[in-house]
Amino acid sequence: MSESDSFTVETDKCLQALNSLALPAKASHFCTLSEFHHIKQALDFAKTNDLNVIPLGAGSNIVLASNLTGLVLSLKLLGITEQKDNRSNNDTVDVTFGAGENWHNAVIYTLKKGWYGLENLSLIPGNTGAAAIQNIGAYGVELADMLVSLKAVDIESGALLNLMNEDCKFGYRDSIFKQSLKDKCIITEITLRLTKTPMVNLDYPALREYFSESTKLPSPMLVSDAVCDIRRSKLPDPKELPNVGSFFKNPIVSAETLGRIHKEHSAPDIDLPQYLQDDGNIKIPAAWLVEYCKLKGFRHGSVGVHKDQALVLVNYNDVEGSDSAREILQLAEEIQRTIKTEFGIDLEVEPRIYGSV
Ligand code: EPU
Repeated sequence: MSESDSFTVETDKCLQALNSLALPAKASHFCTLSEFHHIKQALDFAKTNDLNVIPLGAGSNIVLASNLTGLVLSLKLLGITEQKDNRSNNDTVDVTFGAGENWHNAVIYTLKKGWYGLENLSLIPGNTGAAAIQNIGAYGVELADMLVSLKAVDIESGALLNLMNEDCKFGYRDSIFKQSLKDKCIITEITLRLTKTPMVNLDYPALREYFSESTKLPSPMLVSDAVCDIRRSKLPDPKELPNVGSFFKNPIVSAETLGRIHKEHSAPDIDLPQYLQDDGNIKIPAAWLVEYCKLKGFRHGSVGVHKDQALVLVNYNDVEGSDSAREILQLAEEIQRTIKTEFGIDLEVEPRIYGSV
């Protein structure tokens, strides 16, 4: 039996290296799932020992507020496969990714193969399975635009689930896995439909600006490089400065609310960016609201608001004995209070919070 074939449960496992905010919570029980058959073993173990099952991806979108009681499953199912029999036509390719594949590596793999569509989603931290939970999105593209279907295992019954795109109920940073299927299943693989003809999307202002001097349309690989450049210039690398990317969703407000904000903040002087949604509502950048309230770069104890992106909370982790989980949640609450007072808007926390402080 090879090492990856064995299934072992560790107790009192420190998760600090397994969450990108570097919070020092422990899991009462922990196991790594690198083979599909480990899932059944893990679910049986949890049932026998009356433990909650807590699936964990790369830990890049979670806040571990306290120690976790339950069986934490570290998902490492790998593999990237072209679905030859499932090709809709010669110009597209369906590709299946094991849920434990690193997202950015998967993007680069597809681009090198000449399969396009994921370039705008380059450098997003995390694994492919978790990408479907929050419907990752950046630079005008969302995972839901490419996802054909995914497979999952029902935690309660162990049954295999096959969900098509429309079953996943994708929305902005939202899916059925954050709603009615929350904590109910383990995503094992996702299948995406990519194109073989390069078709780049430069709609997002920062990307358009990046290529404003170019006379010809950039290749998808160049778009990927540009996205990496833009992200690196604004977003801290979690390995150097622990963070979970955007800590809040961008709020979607009605035209009336936007009108009121403009009125109360002496329009037309404020330059609040606006993104019109299909239903007539308007998405506005939470980062702009936070910066307007002079909280960009604000530091409190061992945590703070990043100096280059006001939507990113960072854990400096440099004050001995500090409780960074408590501090980060207190800072988030303070930001929410400030935005509510100043703009009457409720900011919604984006990462999943486990436990409480
Ligand atoms: N802005 C500020 N201050 C800042 C940063 C931004 O005022 O400190 C304003 C600027 O006007 C800018 C606008 O906000 O034009 C948008 O900023 P940016 O392009 O950086 O995007 P964002 O709305 O802050 C969202 C996603 C990011 C994604 C980018 C690019 C959410 C919650 N966040 O951020 O996703 O990379 O767009 O598409 O939707 C993540 O989810 O972790 C994440 C990083």
